[in-house]
Order: sequence, then C-alpha cells, then structure tokens
Amino acid sequence: MARHLITSALPYINGIKHLGNLVGSQLPADLYARYLRGRGHEVMFICATDEHGTPAELAAAKTGEPVADYCARMHGEQSALARGFGLSFDHYGRSSSDRNRVLTQHFAGKLADRGYIREVSEKQVYSIDDGRFLPDRYIEGTCPNCGYDKARGDQCENCTKQLDPTDLIDPRSAISGSTNLEVRETRHLYLRQSALKDDIATWIDSKTDWPILTTSIAKKWLNDGDGLQDRGITRDLNWGVPVKRGDQDWPGMEGKVFYVWFDAPIEYIAATAEWADANDKAEADWRGWWRTDEGADDVTYTQFMGKDNVPFHTLSFPVTLIGSGEPWKMVDYIKSFNYLTYDGGQFSTSQGRGVFMDHALEILPADYWRWWLLSHAPESGDSEFTWENFQQSVNKDLADVLGNFVSRITKFCRSKFGEAVPEGGAFGPDEDRLIDALTTRVRAYETSMNRMEVRRSASELRAIWVLGNEYLQAAAPWATFKADPEKAAMQVRLGLNLIRLYAVLSAPFIPFASKAMLEAMQTDNADWPGDLQKALAALPAGHAFTVPEVLFAKITDDQREEWAERFKGERQ
Ligand code: MF3
Ligand code: ZN
Repeated sequence: MARHLITSALPYINGIKHLGNLVGSQLPADLYARYLRGRGHEVMFICATDEHGTPAELAAAKTGEPVADYCARMHGEQSALARGFGLSFDHYGRSSSDRNRVLTQHFAGKLADRGYIREVSEKQVYSIDDGRFLPDRYIEGTCPNCGYDKARGDQCENCTKQLDPTDLIDPRSAISGSTNLEVRETRHLYLRQSALKDDIATWIDSKTDWPILTTSIAKKWLNDGDGLQDRGITRDLNWGVPVKRGDQDWPGMEGKVFYVWFDAPIEYIAATAEWADANDKAEADWRGWWRTDEGADDVTYTQFMGKDNVPFHTLSFPVTLIGSGEPWKMVDYIKSFNYLTYDGGQFSTSQGRGVFMDHALEILPADYWRWWLLSHAPESGDSEFTWENFQQSVNKDLADVLGNFVSRITKFCRSKFGEAVPEGGAFGPDEDRLIDALTTRVRAYETSMNRMEVRRSASELRAIWVLGNEYLQAAAPWATFKADPEKAAMQVRLGLNLIRLYAVLSAPFIPFASKAMLEAMQTDNADWPGDLQKALAALPAGHAFTVPEVLFAKITDDQREEWAERFKGERQ
C-alpha cells in the first residue's frame, strides 16, 4: 500500500465559499482522498484556511471585527461547512497558526542564508486619504494585460496574470475608492526567483504526465519571463507573519509582515504539523510526510487547485522549497480546474453571485451537490451550473437510477422473503453476463479515478448503477417469483449484494448515501471489490437488512423555480 499526501488549495478566510470554489479544489481533492483510502492506501489529506493578507483585513474591516477575531470565527464557520459537505480532511488548519509562523520564518531564514533574498528599496502606492500603503488587494484598477477593470493589485482574476500594484491602469483604493494616490519609497525583501529559473524549468519539464491545463499555465509564465521575475515577499501591513530571519530579528524589517502568498503554501506543511499537535503525534509523524530524508521519499504528493493558483504552485512555492536547500517533499502531480460559471455569468464572492456553501446545505443534503458538481467538474473547459441541469442530473442519476434500484430491491425482498438475504438458486448465464460487464466497468472506473479524471469517473460510476437497473428490469424477480421462487431469491440476493457494492464504489462521490446504504445492509464490509463474483457474495443468505429511507428525493419544478428565483441576485 502506498502513502499519499493530498492537499487542496487553501480557501481564503474572507467569507463563505461558493460552489465554484468548492469544485475547483476541496471537493475533487476529497474525492481522491476517499477513493485512495477506500482502496486501502495510507492518506494524509490536508487543508486550512488562508488567513493572512489583504483579503482578511478587508473582510474584517467590513464587519467591524478585529481581524484575529474575524478569522477565528470564519475558520469555525468554514470548518463546519466542510464537515457538512463531507470533506474528509485529516486536518483543517489555519495559516495564522504558530506552526506556520515558525516555518515561514524558517524558510525565509534559509533562503536568506543561501543568497536568495535581496533587500530592495522600492516604490509602493500610498493612499493620502487613507493614510497608508495600499498593497495587493487594497488597490484595484484595470489589468495591463487583458483590460479587465476590476483587477486587483496582486493578480488579475480574469487572465490569472500576477501583478504589482504599480502595474494597474487607473488605480484606486479598495478601502475608500480614492484615486488620491502617490508613490512612496519603502524597503522590502525580494525572493530571487530568477536565480532559480533553470531549476524550476528542469523540474517542470520532468513532469511529463501533468494535465495540459497545469503545464500550459506553468510554462506560459515561466517562458514569458513573467512568472519568475524576483518577487516582493514582504508587505507594509499589520496582519500576517512578522518578518524574521529564522528566529532572529531582521534589521530594517520591523513592523512588516510576509506576503500572504509566501506563507500560505507553507501552511500545507504547517497544517500537517498542526495535525500532529492535535492528535498527540510525534514530530517524526508529520515530518515523515514532508521530509524526504525522514521518510517522505515514498510519499506521492498530489495538489488540487483552480487554474488561477497554478503559477504560485508551479513557480513560487517550488522556489521556496528548492531555494531552502533542504530536502522537502515536492509535489508529484498538480490537478487543476477551470471555472464553474453560474447561469450565464461568473460565480463571484465579491459580488455575492451564485450559490454558496451554507445556502446549498440549507436547501439540499451534501450528496446532491457533490454528485452534480463532480459529474460536471470544469476539467477540459469551464462548465456551467444551471438549475435545470442540476434538477435533471439529480432526478435522473440519483433518484431514478441509484435510489430507485435500492428501493425496489429492498422493498420487494421485504414483501416476499422478509428482511434477510434470501437463500436458494444459483447464478445462471444472465448473472455471469452481468458480472462480466461489471468487471469491465469497475476496472474502467478505477483507471479513471487513478488518473483523477473526475467527470469520466462519474460517468463510469453511473454506468455501473445502470447495469444493475437493467439487470433488475430484465430479471424481473416479481414475475419470476410465481413460477420459480428459488430463482427469484437468487436474483434478489444478487440485488442486495449490488447495493453493498454500490455503497463501496460510490462512497468517494456520495459518502452520506453510501453510509446509509451500508447501514441498511447492516454491514461494515466496505472492502474495495477485487473479484466481482466474490464481492457479490459478501452478504450471505440469512444476513439481515432493513429498507432504507428514500435515498434521494426528486427535485420538483416548483422547487427549481423557487431556488432559481432565490439565488438570482446578490447574496443576502
Ligand atoms: N487562498 C488562495 C485562493 O483562494 C489559495 C491559496 S493556496 C496556498 O486563491 F497554497 F497558497 F495556500
Ligand atoms: Zn488581466
């Protein structure tokens, strides 16, 4: 069995995330983590809230809370929602943790010792009306690259280009909207990314199996010379990791903090240390996931993220790790996603547009969303959420195909044989054919899950459900029963075993329904199927079961219209 480290891009602390955020990182990461655990691998699945920088400060200023209080509260809300969606993190950390402070200062110290940091006296935008510097998101304007007029000082959301505040055309303060700005001198630390350009290029070139979306973005920024310009890693802000060189003060850097994109990815490591702290583990236990000299050489590390995060994970963070000169585990595979759009436009946190995680769970259980989102993951291009499409998928795949199968078999058995797996009869050619077809499909499902082809995996799984329905339709035990009750018993026994099999195979997508199915079958045998013949004999004759509650209710037209209306404007 292999050891898998899995991280999801860290959601910003600044408010509840929308479904587009969820499907671009945390949800597919959870799918993969659950799948690998289901197959018996050792998994460390890490996420955390990204709490520093201007997004947090701006959001806290809006609610009037001190930023530390705001972050603590929002971390609580985001982790409750993560649980609600069944996101099975081994640890959900906080980038404002002590662990991250210490590690971030450690990396800065190592980078400085090795000559990869230089001090720069630079010009920063200062807002006269606000009485402060305006780094990153404190400033907005027009993107010099694509012309998008709401580009932020750190990155253009539209074209993913990393920016400096001084690059923006027609800049304005995000605090006051003031355009009464001037440029002032201030001293900052720069990471000498350019000095490591060859190392990064070699490393990226070695990743021949990465998805095109990931490598194309990485190479674009690398070869434009754009992504690997030296980059400022400190800011004139109060909230963040104080600038230190290891545990030593950094003369001239008093009162400054590290840039949020410097400390955030380090939190992947720090959150694993937080996991150790929270679970009474030794230092060696978390280091064994991250230090190739302390056991991590056999770890496979996979990252999940939206495409706008790719430059930071393929260029900047690797520079931090390589530049440290220490044997930190580097990512093996980066799975990135395009955007999910909402009814013809963008999901948008700042504009409150779309469906957000809290509202989603208010109207329907997590599995409905998980299924739709994963089966429509924006892999090869953007994908669009519409209420019609959502209603259709849920009603067809979950209610008509899977839910209906479970309900028909269990109810029929109860009425004719009672609430135990019936005995008698033996598999014939129809059953052999079904088992052959299932074997082919299950192996194809495994192949696409291994490759993290999310939509494809969903359609393989759906096809596996359909095979059961078609079998049941043709076998028609309700008809067989009169002439040949033994044969009907065998068909029903197979059907009940299919429910257990479906619970196991479907758990990565719909963990709550899967749990309900296993409970109804009164088994905790969730072994991944090797030989299908064997897997379909796991529940022997005489094994008791219960008829579960309706697994998936259909979405009515009235509901669909009501929700479309409720979620058409700005988030309330
Ligand atoms: N908070 C960032 C975003 O939502 C992602 C940070 S990922 C990390 O775009 F690796 F830097 F933490
Ligand atoms: Zn742009």
